[in-house]
Amino acid sequence: MTYNLLKGKKGIIFGALDENSIAWKVALKAHEEGAKFTLTNAPIAMRMGEINKLAEHCGATVIPADATSLEDLENLFTKSIEALGGKIDFVLHSIGMSPNIRKGREYGDLNYEWFLKTFDISALSFHKVMQVAEKKDALNEYASIVALSYIAAQRSFPDYTDMSQAKAALESIARSYGARLGKLKKVRVNTISQSPTKTTAGKGISGFDVFYDFADMMSPLGNATAEDCADYTISLFSDLTKKVTMQNLMHDGGFSYSGITSELIERLSK
Ligand SMILES: NC(=O)c1ccc[n+]([C@@H]2O[C@H](COP(=O)([O-])OP(=O)(O)OC[C@H]3O[C@@H](n4cnc5c(N)ncnc54)[C@H](O)[C@@H]3O)[C@@H](O)[C@H]2O)c1
Repeated sequence: MTYNLLKGKKGIIFGALDENSIAWKVALKAHEEGAKFTLTNAPIAMRMGEINKLAEHCGATVIPADATSLEDLENLFTKSIEALGGKIDFVLHSIGMSPNIRKGREYGDLNYEWFLKTFDISALSFHKVMQVAEKKDALNEYASIVALSYIAAQRSFPDYTDMSQAKAALESIARSYGARLGKLKKVRVNTISQSPTKTTAGKGISGFDVFYDFADMMSPLGNATAEDCADYTISLFSDLTKKVTMQNLMHDGGFSYSGITSELIERLSK
C-alpha cells in the first residue's frame, strides 16, 4: 500500500551497500512514496556495484562521497541539488563503521587511532553533513534529517565497544543540531534507535546472532526489521511529523521498556 507521502520531495540517502542495508529499504520505500533522491556511499563501497541496480530501479543518480570528507560532502550537495532540480527535503544518514570491531579488538584493548576513525565515520560525519548543508543553504523549510542509532548508546553491550560512544555522540549531535536547524529553517533532526538487523554492519559484531535472538525474545512485538525501519523513516520524512525533532526514537518492538518477557522466563527455566 502506498500513500504518496513523499510526492514532490527531494532527498539524499547515504549508506545503501547491498539489498540488506537499511538504507536500501528506505530508498525502495521513498521511491514508492513518490520521492526523488540521490544515492551516495563511500567510494570504496561503490566497487561492489550493487548500488547501481538500486539507482536504476529508483531513477536515482549515484554520487560517491566519503562522509568524513567535507570536500566530498560539498560536492554531494551541489550535485544533488543540480540533479534533483532544487533544494533538499530529506536526508538519511545510515552510516556506521568501527575498525576496532572489524578487527576484533576488545574494549580493554582498543586502538585509539581506530577509535577516532569510528567516531569520525559513525558520529562526526552526521555533524559534517548538517554543517555543509547549512553553509550551502541546501535545505528547504521543514526538511527532515534522520540518522540511525542503537540502544548501546544508553545500555552496555559488550561487543559493541567503541560504537557505543559513537552512537551516544550521534544522538547528542541530533539534539544540538536539531535545536539550531529548527530555529534557522524549521528543519527536523532525529535519530531512530533500531533493533538488531541482519545487515553487513550488524553481522560484523561478534555474537550478533545470539543477541539478535535475545532481543527478539525480549521485544513484545519482536525485532523491527529493516523494512519496518524504512516505514518509520518515511513517516519522519513526511509532512505528518512536522513537529517531531531532537528525539532519539526507539524502534525496537518494545525492547527498551521490557524488564523480562514470559518467553525468556520459559527459556531460562528449562
Ligand atoms: N544492523 C543493525 O543491527 C543496526 C541496528 C541499529 C542501528 N544500525 C545502524 O544502521 C546504519 C546502517 O547500517 P546497516 O545495518 O544498514 O549496515 P550496512 O553495512 O548495510 O550500512 C552501513 C553503511 O555505512 C557506509 N559507510 C561506511 N563508512 C563510510 C564512509 N566513510 N562514508 C560513507 N559511508 C560509509 C557503508 O558503506 C555502508 O553502506 C548504521 O548507522 C548502523 O549503525 C544498525
